[in-house]
Amino acid sequence: MESYTKSKIIQKANLLRDQKLYPFLRAIEETQATCVTVQGKEQIMIGSNNYLGLTHHPHVKEAAIKAIERFGTGCTGSRFLNGNLIIHEELEEKLAAYIGHERALVFATGMQANLGAISCIAGPRDCLIFDSENHASIIDASRLSFGTTFKYKHNNMESLEETLKANQKRFKKMIIVADGVFSMTGDILDLPNIVDLAKKYNAYVYVDDAHGVGVLGPQGQGTAAHFDLVDDIHFNMGTFSKSFSSIGGFLSGSKEVIDYVKHSARSFIFSASMPPAAVATVLACLEVVMKEPQIFDNLWSNVNMIRNGFKDIGLFTYGSKTPIIPVLVGDDFKSLEVTKYLTDSGIFATPVIPPAVPSGEALIRTSYMATHTKAELTRVLEVMAEVKKKFDLPSEGPQI
Ligand SMILES: Cc1ncc(COP(=O)(O)O)c(C=O)c1O
Repeated sequence: MESYTKSKIIQKANLLRDQKLYPFLRAIEETQATCVTVQGKEQIMIGSNNYLGLTHHPHVKEAAIKAIERFGTGCTGSRFLNGNLIIHEELEEKLAAYIGHERALVFATGMQANLGAISCIAGPRDCLIFDSENHASIIDASRLSFGTTFKYKHNNMESLEETLKANQKRFKKMIIVADGVFSMTGDILDLPNIVDLAKKYNAYVYVDDAHGVGVLGPQGQGTAAHFDLVDDIHFNMGTFSKSFSSIGGFLSGSKEVIDYVKHSARSFIFSASMPPAAVATVLACLEVVMKEPQIFDNLWSNVNMIRNGFKDIGLFTYGSKTPIIPVLVGDDFKSLEVTKYLTDSGIFATPVIPPAVPSGEALIRTSYMATHTKAELTRVLEVMAEVKKKFDLPSEGPQI
């Protein structure tokens, strides 16, 4: 076992632990969503993906409790065999109608949705064309797929077109796969141009909308709805581990696609299904987003307050237009020092260091909820102004 303790990653982790700069695996003792307690100290949470703050909504909590009373705590098996509840199917019907696709298929996590769907929709004669900032679960899915993978430069349509042009005659199918909202920088995918290129080169489009669902679009239907392009997306993936305050994931698309994935995706067939409370949570979240439009006004009002506040302070935020607002730090070590300063000041935020971002572009990923109070956000701005001065954070983007 010595080879593990001597590994570079463990030596680095131990070094950070010794310097009290280790920022991972912080144990939360209590949470009210926007405010958490860690080591007995209250902190304002700006490091979660709980964009609508629904983890603590009374209707959502009640629905989860009732589902446990009716179905118990777990399904103890795959949906394919013994773990398929009537509420899994109800959720699929409601999701398909919400997204605007013919059918939806629910998986136990978003990662499993990507692993299962991507690995089975691309065969040995197909290719997958990825944005260079795609989520790790998409990369892992490509390793399970028999298709060939190519990458284009992040959100760069010239680079995508070059890849499409070079491969159009080499493969049976070309599938463009990209995040709808990029998880670290909060960038929105250039979907209108992707759809145009897909039509021009006869390619398919797969959107991983983990951070778009519940945030973009008229009632949070996601990135495709935001651009009014739902009918042009062949595969739409989402997760319930963010705005829908639960755990689980889904794929939506045509009847044929969903039926095929249902009978082929190994992560769907060989893994137990979403537990009842998790399913009921998502069903209740869907009711809330349909019935309480105010939640989106609150979200965008909070996002605008922070975006404008960071601009006044002079922080560089990659032009984010979503509730994910990254703050560029640059140096990796400095980003850990900033995280500690934030923690000591009562703010829970997360550093993002290479390889999750390019070298020299370490950042603090901050994100906002519909339920943050203006007082909480005012405190965040005060502390970030101190951080800007104390750590001399850049006001401009990385010079390439
Ligand atoms: C873009 C993206 N795709 C997929 C996933 C995986 O989702 P889940 O947490 O439901 O497994 C995540 C979660 O971090 C994500 O950010």
